[in-house]
Amino acid sequence: MEEAAEALLGGLRLSHLAHLPVAGVGTGLDMDGESSGAAVRVSSSGVPEEAGRPRPGMDSPDNGPCEEDTTYHIPVLEEEVVAALSPAPGKLLMDGTLGGGGHTRRLLRAGAYVLALDQDPEALAWAARRLEEVADHLITIRSNFASFPTILEEAGLGPVLDGILLDLGVSSHQLDAAERGFSFMREGPLDMRMDPSAPICAADLVNGWPEEELARIFYEYGDEKASRRAAKAIVKRRAEKLFETTADLAAVVATVIPKRGPASPATRVFQALRIAVNDEMAVLESALESAHRWLKPGGRLAVITFHSLEDRLVKKYFRKHSDPEIDRPEWPAPRPNPECYYRLVTRKGITAGEEETRRNPRSRSATLRVVERLP
Ligand SMILES: C[S@@+](CC[C@H](N)C(=O)[O-])C[C@H]1O[C@@H](n2cnc3c(N)ncnc32)[C@H](O)[C@@H]1O
Repeated sequence: MEEAAEALLGGLRLSHLAHLPVAGVGTGLDMDGESSGAAVRVSSSGVPEEAGRPRPGMDSPDNGPCEEDTTYHIPVLEEEVVAALSPAPGKLLMDGTLGGGGHTRRLLRAGAYVLALDQDPEALAWAARRLEEVADHLITIRSNFASFPTILEEAGLGPVLDGILLDLGVSSHQLDAAERGFSFMREGPLDMRMDPSAPICAADLVNGWPEEELARIFYEYGDEKASRRAAKAIVKRRAEKLFETTADLAAVVATVIPKRGPASPATRVFQALRIAVNDEMAVLESALESAHRWLKPGGRLAVITFHSLEDRLVKKYFRKHSDPEIDRPEWPAPRPNPECYYRLVTRKGITAGEEETRRNPRSRSATLRVVERLP
């Protein structure tokens, strides 16, 4: 089992190294600046280890949470993710949203092999350093998680995954870094790209999109009731002077959207722009559509969402594909569902408990949903 997973990761490493102008094995971080699946940081143990044998940095079997630097990002629902994916020696898991590497670290410490993706080179660099001492069963690839089927296909692989984790949205570090332009609380350029080589940033939308398009995304992605008013104010202001900074945009939005509660009036507009810039709904849908083809029978898909739009999409998709029958009013009887791929593991979304929300306020809006691939 373990050897099979090692061979699979070996195949992945080789297929990615073959495409790289600069690449390294076990030599820190190698980046070539391209986006889709190009930059790879690979660590290699060379020799497969015996199942269950502890490696440096691997915990005792009970695997408690990591007590170390959490300034980059504190993983949410960590215990719940571990319980959902049951990482163990020989299992091959994919973390589509590596971020600060908190979840991946737990999976590696339990002895699993992890294929980890992130579209942000900064996250990959950070995680590579953080995971150095547990990285012998890890391969990290710079890629959008929507492209994971291409990565596996290029490596000549089929349904090999024992689990997939998607912990959506941005990390605390991305949010806190003023120069990334995600936050209305920090003055920075209007950027908001998770993948800094992506062609479109928030300034392009704010300064270039038609008023109706802006109003649409504020409404659809931000659930902003004053969407039209916000779009109108933006278009009026940009005719005089284009927007350059987050603070500038937040100030204009605040002139037309009343403050409701403790959140900034710009919260929903910023969320909508981030979702649009990173095409978040489309990439999530695409990853969900592909996942069943790459999971082994019994393999699990775990998704953590942070707002109702994402959660609705995941919930609906999971329901639709775990219902063994479809019923329509015009049919005399229900019929078998040809697209029933999963069993629902979580009937209700799992949310953070009191202790976690106190320790990590960001976990307040997290919902975890899990399904299991049917044979
Ligand atoms: C919430 S953080 C993940 C945190 C991580 N689970 C941890 O424990 O540190 C989300 C990360 O996923 C990345 N990300 C979000 N959407 C992505 C996508 N479609 N493809 C690849 N990476 C993505 C972001 O760049 C960010 O680093």
